[in-house]
Amino acid sequence: MIIILDYGSQTAELIARRVRECHVYSEVVPHTMSLDEIKKKFHPQGIILSGGPSSVYDQDAPHIDPAILNGSQIPILGICYGMQLMAQVAGGEVQRGQKQEFGKAHFYIDDNFDLFEGLWMEMTVWMSHGDSVIKMPPGFNRIGHTENTAVAAMANRNKRQFGVQFHPEVVHTPKGFDIIRNFVYKVCNCQPSWNMESFVRDQIREIRNTVKKDKVLLGLSGGVDSTTLAALLHKAIGDQLTCMFIDQGFMRKGESDRIVTMIRENFRMNLVHVNAADRFYKALEGITDPEEKRKKIGNEFVRVFETEMVKLNSDHKFLAQGTLYPDVIESAVVGVAKTAVKIKTHHNVGGLPSNMKFQVLEPLKRLFKDEVRRLGVELQVPDFIVWRQPFPGPGLAIRVLGPVNRERVHILQEADRIVMEEVKKAGIYRKLWQAFAVLLPIQTVGVQGDKRTYSNTVALRAVTSEDAMTANWAHLPFEILESISTRITNEVPEINRVVYDITNKPPATIEWE
Ligand code: XMP
Repeated sequence: MIIILDYGSQTAELIARRVRECHVYSEVVPHTMSLDEIKKKFHPQGIILSGGPSSVYDQDAPHIDPAILNGSQIPILGICYGMQLMAQVAGGEVQRGQKQEFGKAHFYIDDNFDLFEGLWMEMTVWMSHGDSVIKMPPGFNRIGHTENTAVAAMANRNKRQFGVQFHPEVVHTPKGFDIIRNFVYKVCNCQPSWNMESFVRDQIREIRNTVKKDKVLLGLSGGVDSTTLAALLHKAIGDQLTCMFIDQGFMRKGESDRIVTMIRENFRMNLVHVNAADRFYKALEGITDPEEKRKKIGNEFVRVFETEMVKLNSDHKFLAQGTLYPDVIESAVVGVAKTAVKIKTHHNVGGLPSNMKFQVLEPLKRLFKDEVRRLGVELQVPDFIVWRQPFPGPGLAIRVLGPVNRERVHILQEADRIVMEEVKKAGIYRKLWQAFAVLLPIQTVGVQGDKRTYSNTVALRAVTSEDAMTANWAHLPFEILESISTRITNEVPEINRVVYDITNKPPATIEWE
């Protein structure tokens, strides 16, 4: 394995992911670990020092156990701050804030052995630094530069230590993955042996060690994250796991039944299916403000959970959550952060009463969405879940704009079913991040069957996105839009108008509320 020492970079986990893409296991660990601890706990074949927001001259600048650089014999790659720290500790010199570089830069390779093997001598890289290495430590040679940074990459081949000032892990460094792969295979001599099968094996062992004979409760939403986690936990601890599916009454048409049947038939796990629709509809009576809706739904989740726990006579020591890595970083970022934080407050212990004491289990928290999907496939989670588009915790309640009642949710379910059917029929379901209908709180005039109508409007929303932080409205072919519109107005009598949302995120969000 290769470990990443974390110096506070937003991309530390991305480095680990890139290494895992090379089929070598990788984990991010605190930079405070000593060489002894690292050797004892991990036996890594390589160490990567991540970037970070600090300057080596800051008073509390994060440090490194000098033994890692001096006597470990373990190959090291320092990235950005990691390279500067390496230079400083090994006897070089770092200059503070003279020539800053942010964004794309042209990088010129001076020496293309091992780390840069197979690469063109000039490439685009992503830079984000204020400080620079101006004097390399003894034993190091320059292996690359940019116009602004004389030492943009350095190497001490005898010690197998390398530093790059740019970020190879981000997509803005198009050849960055080749550099990481070179480090993993050519410098560290790792073998590509890690895959989802070994991840499952390791996780099962770890879950069993942590949980022992105790019980685990998991809030199941039917999404890919919580269902995959359920499958993993069930494989690890079988009947010690209880899943709780709280149906708030705002699911897509037929979705609750599909999820419950799938869990019962495919996995035979302990499932508490709570039909709490009445409570949720009651809680939303008279409410139209989007934030208030979200809050009410969140609170109701907690209350239902509490009631059910009492019924279960619970002695569950652990609460499992399908937290993914992006949830962890997003919660630190303004904008999507708000969503991520809210997502979590619906289900996690943060929102639970203080007399319920759980230990939290988050076995997926190092993974990205596509890794969870591969894990789901490995654990035989059915395709319709693995590839399910994201669906918000508050469900259709935030897609029925204005007042929420059974009748309006029913109208939306029917329209939304048609959107789903047509999108799947056209073979574009997986290409879209999300596609759905929104029921608007306005009525417009129409003519249906020679009669004047005055009824509801739905908006269609279809977006493409990498991670929901930004999104583009999908340029759906007119034919698909037309068949959706025709079917909705023909099959859902309460709707006489269909419009298409052509706004990106930002400035709009994906959901309307
Ligand atoms: P927005 O509307 O903020 O949505 O652009 C970004 C992504 O998050 C989903 N979303 C939620 N998911 N609970 C969730 O589990 C929520 O409260 C929630 N709100 C938005 C949304 O569907 C999109 O994929």
